Amino acid sequence: MRNIIISTFIFALFLTGCNSHTPQYRIGVSQCLDDAWRQKMNYEMERELLLHPDMTLSRRIAYGSNELQCAQIDSFIKERVDLLIVSPNEAEQVKPAVTKAYRAGIPVIVADRRVPGDEWTAFIGGDNYKVGQLMAQWVMGKAKEYGVKAKGKPFVVLEVAGLPGSTPATLRHKGMMEGIEVADTKGRIVVESVMGSWYKENAYEVVSAYLENHPLPDVIVAHNDLMAIGAAEAVTRNPSPVTNSPLSIPVMGVDGIHPGLQAIVDGKIECSATYSSRGDMIIDAAARILHKESYVRDTVLETTLVDITAAYPMLKQDEDITRDLETLHIVQTQSESKWKQLRFDRFVLTLFVVFFFILFVITLGYVFIKQRKIQKEIKHDIIPQLEGMQEAILLSKKDEAFAERLRQVVDDYLTDPNLTVEFLGSKLQLSRTQLFRRVKAVAGKGPLDYIRERRLIRADELLRTTDMTIQQVALELCFSSPGYFTKCYKEYFGHLPSVR
Ligand code: FRU
Repeated sequence: MRNIIISTFIFALFLTGCNSHTPQYRIGVSQCLDDAWRQKMNYEMERELLLHPDMTLSRRIAYGSNELQCAQIDSFIKERVDLLIVSPNEAEQVKPAVTKAYRAGIPVIVADRRVPGDEWTAFIGGDNYKVGQLMAQWVMGKAKEYGVKAKGKPFVVLEVAGLPGSTPATLRHKGMMEGIEVADTKGRIVVESVMGSWYKENAYEVVSAYLENHPLPDVIVAHNDLMAIGAAEAVTRNPSPVTNSPLSIPVMGVDGIHPGLQAIVDGKIECSATYSSRGDMIIDAAARILHKESYVRDTVLETTLVDITAAYPMLKQDEDITRDLETLHIVQTQSESKWKQLRFDRFVLTLFVVFFFILFVITLGYVFIKQRKIQKEIKHDIIPQLEGMQEAILLSKKDEAFAERLRQVVDDYLTDPNLTVEFLGSKLQLSRTQLFRRVKAVAGKGPLDYIRERRLIRADELLRTTDMTIQQVALELCFSSPGYFTKCYKEYFGHLPSVR
């Protein structure tokens, strides 16, 4: 029984497993960080994934560690994911793992941050050089405004840079420097850099330290909005050496999503440059690659400057999108739990069906075996028994007829002294032994005793119904002497023939 239950369970599991919709492609996503910008990218991917039920995502976050990211990519390679999406922390350090995946035959989509070389399948990300140029454009605008009052003094730009080894940090810096170089014909702009490594807290620390040891910069340009907000907070914490009130320095960031837009609307930072995450495009490209359809190998996303006029509507739009995404997330979670319930119900149902099916088969088998046993019993025991009974009946019928004939023959010759065993045998056409056996069978005694019994019964009859004497009767029925007759009579009837 235990075995039946276990096999039913396994079989039901197998059946439900066969029925359930299992995604065909597993995609590994290796994210370098887990900030608001990346969470937006993740949401966009999840939303797009709803259109591709044959794909599933497995996401790992490296929290800014190149070693961890390489190890995570390695484990994706070992698990033989069908496709890898990587947003590398630092290009050179993560490149070997990306190359290894690509060489292992796993299609690799590099997202947002590039890796050097061309051993990847597709790239989708922003134009970081252009972002740098937008920074330069803003700096030049600011320099023009300040130029009037800052006679002969250099215009100081404090750059809060992202992680140095990451391509956005390198290209944004390059774009800005080259943009300034071209526009700053009088060579009045000085750029000083501190490293915020993409984190708000880092930016706050390094800008605070800078402000303590340097004259005030004229503007701050941060490589992302989070660092711009950190820098702006560091500035407002420091009182002006002249007025003793909080300082105010124009700050620009990059990304143009919720925290940055909110900071612009709140007046904390002046502007930002959009830097799209487009998780939807990444998933679409993944689907195309996996389905062996055509795809664009290198997609560079547009960027624009966001100032206060653009920030407010964008913020509203961003909030709507965030709300939609949250609703979507709730709906998705609910539908997932419904699916789980449905799968469970189906499993239980299958369990029942399989269990009863097995029970049915066992019962059928049992009935079949039982039937065979009964058939055998009938064949080997009951039929021979019936045949025996039939034979016995036939035999007893035969015996009855024989007994009747025996009595008749004997009764016909009771008074005949020739009625001997031999005579009887010849009359009934039986040998001496046959006669003995058959008379014994029907009368329970030998032929001689039987003849004597019949003679005694007739003698008794004559004594009762006629006036014949004992001597006459003994003679009539061929007893050798009246004494012998009396002896036999007494033995048979238990009293003397004279007693009436
Ligand atoms: C998010 C982020 C963004 C930045 C991008 C560059 O992790 O730091 O703020 O624009 O990465 O890759």
